[in-house]
Amino acid sequence: MSTSEISGFYKRSAQDRWKIVQEFGGLSDEEVRTLGGTGALKFDQVDRMIENVIGTMPVPLGVAMNFRVNGRDYLVPMAIEEPSVVAAASNAAKMARAKGGFTASTSGPVMIGQIQLVHVPDPHSARLAILHARDEILRRANEKDPILVKLGGGAKDVETRVISTGRGPMVITHLIVDCRDAMGANAVNTMAEAVAPHLEEITGGRVYLRIISNLAVRRLARARAVFAKDAIGGPEVVEGILEAFAFADADPFRCATHNKGIMNGIDAVVLATGNDFRAIEAGAHSYAAWKSGGYRSLTTWERNADGDLVGTIELPMAVGLVGGATAVHPTAKACVKLLGVKSAQELAEVIASVGLAQNFAALRALATEGIQRGHMGLHARNIAATVGAVGDEIDRVAEALVKEGKVRMDRAKEILDDIRRRNT
Ligand code: MEV
Repeated sequence: MSTSEISGFYKRSAQDRWKIVQEFGGLSDEEVRTLGGTGALKFDQVDRMIENVIGTMPVPLGVAMNFRVNGRDYLVPMAIEEPSVVAAASNAAKMARAKGGFTASTSGPVMIGQIQLVHVPDPHSARLAILHARDEILRRANEKDPILVKLGGGAKDVETRVISTGRGPMVITHLIVDCRDAMGANAVNTMAEAVAPHLEEITGGRVYLRIISNLAVRRLARARAVFAKDAIGGPEVVEGILEAFAFADADPFRCATHNKGIMNGIDAVVLATGNDFRAIEAGAHSYAAWKSGGYRSLTTWERNADGDLVGTIELPMAVGLVGGATAVHPTAKACVKLLGVKSAQELAEVIASVGLAQNFAALRALATEGIQRGHMGLHARNIAATVGAVGDEIDRVAEALVKEGKVRMDRAKEILDDIRRRNT
């Protein structure tokens, strides 16, 4: 089994890095060229994906090291424009390895389709009429996707609630659909639309919305990791992380940023694998608000009997491997191959582990030296390039900025001018 524990990856040449991921993922030369190239898409491909296409928007693609999930090593592709995220995830995953890495599971690939019925004269009796018609509703839904049914998925159950709204009572039906390896939006929406006329018939109400819910409480991914106190800087660091977690879990202002840090890691893998990161964002934040009646942390942090830090994460993770961009986008396809995941659930487990790692890294930095020092190196290089530094000037300007503790454009320009003056 190959190891994902590769030190100094960032110091290697591009050729060396490509060689490493090629060997790890069993990628072909062509796939490596696809990963490394900036123009992986042909115009007619992108033209078919969305409307009014004028080109593509490349986002940096990095690889997080050191991940071990359920005893298996992964190199994790992450598409993100923000500096430090990939390095932070890799460092956290390295610290988790001392205690075996991450253990993860899912609740199954089950999504909810909602059907909204209004103007129902007798909503409570309508609710029972729908439940009595369960088998017929499932039959009509499953008729729409025989392939999914053949694979063991399809509509499995029907649930109904009467809710009070500003426009009176509504009867809301949930179609419970096992989507197997698909994200499922297409299948679920088609089924919800197909059963709607029958719901109108048996209730005398009027259907308006028929659409998937991103609050995917039946498609949860969970991960857990133990961080040995000595591997993360000692009992003081454990204490600081516990204080940081308590702050987030008690205060929505802090919690928004805390959960945003988790989503830095999650969205990056979701995007790299061609999945719908808006659906994942919506699911995560609505779940953070729904599960205990107020906006709370998606993670928990505790100290175990040995004084080590134990972290958990649980959140909806509606990602797929078939259908959507994952199946057609060449970069997404190569990323999925590099990961080596065999099911949507395995992908969800890796992504949840990355979210937990990302949160650990952020809390550890925040509770100790703060995040700015780590950010400053890359930020200074960006500033140097922005003021016109090229080649080795970029490193020279960036180093001077960090040394002075003034990572600013005006100062960068002065230093660059000074370097050029001396060279002439
Ligand atoms: C920055 O993108 C993410 C953090 O703000 C997360 C956090 O505060 O926990 C560092």
